[in-house]
Amino acid sequence: MMAAPIKILSLGGLPASVEDALAERFPVYREAALPPEPFFAAHGAEIAAIVTRGRVPVTAALIKQLPNLEIVANFGVGYDSIDVEAAIARRIVVTNTPDVLNDEMADFTIGLLLATIRRLPQADRFVRSGLWAEGGAFPLSATLRGRTVGIVGMGRIGKVIAKRLGGFDVPIAYHSRRKQPDVEYPYFAELRALAEAVDTLIVVLPGGPATRGIIDAEILKALGPNGVLINVARGSVVDEPALIHALEGRAILAAGLDVFAREPKVPASLIEMGQVVLLPHIGTATNHTRNLMGQLVVQNIVSWFDDCGPITAVPEITQALGHQLRRPV
Ligand code: 8YV
Repeated sequence: MMAAPIKILSLGGLPASVEDALAERFPVYREAALPPEPFFAAHGAEIAAIVTRGRVPVTAALIKQLPNLEIVANFGVGYDSIDVEAAIARRIVVTNTPDVLNDEMADFTIGLLLATIRRLPQADRFVRSGLWAEGGAFPLSATLRGRTVGIVGMGRIGKVIAKRLGGFDVPIAYHSRRKQPDVEYPYFAELRALAEAVDTLIVVLPGGPATRGIIDAEILKALGPNGVLINVARGSVVDEPALIHALEGRAILAAGLDVFAREPKVPASLIEMGQVVLLPHIGTATNHTRNLMGQLVVQNIVSWFDDCGPITAVPEITQALGHQLRRPV
């Protein structure tokens, strides 16, 4: 009897280029949202791989409905929407797209930092509204000059951001779980101590339970009334009500946010504020970088089913299941 074909479940609307490339090798179920129960009753046993972009969580309950699932390939470096523990328990491989997006994220973060401090989107709105033509003068803004920048999360992206910032003549310090041997900037083991020492915080930590709400009222107070918060990581890392309260009470000066607690919902109180720059989670959103991310997703899937192992398994998977991962025979 011929073996059943390997089928792929694409969840959350991946770029057509990714789904089309996969479809050259495998049948692909393309699902923008989590399919209803009857889909799993009919097809659950056929699915050997999920490709996802984090919009639909890959929970233990979902994994349970897919008895022959072997690999979950995430389109993105952050994989906090995937229950990796549940995957490990079933020896399911999880991959992500590290490194190919570092430069893009760093460029973007510098852009958001400057846009927030110099109020560039607000100035654009000023021109468009006709206020400049009417003779108005856009108010003077804060500056990057004289600031000290704290990076929260000195991982692969954080290091490239620090490299970029090095060209802006600002002192840099950082906090991360461990001191990085290849980073010379001052290290703060305590986030609060970093927030007290700087006036600008760039958050670039992984999401998930370990970092949930770590930018809270106390950290924002420590950052101080001249403080600027930039979040390009995950909305979950910031206590959003505490941030709104801090901005409303002028406990900090401004925020630049690419990520939110309940995307695509953005609290009305943030939308009404003049001292925030709000972006729709576009850190990696260029054709160049999304193509690289998509190619890596496809390479991970193809390599796995060619019995060559994953290309970029997430660290928890290699720690738990080993480096020489191969398909079960
Ligand atoms: C998203 C991201 O994955 O890489 C990440 O962790 O947050 C982004 O690149 C992207 O929006 C795909 O949905």
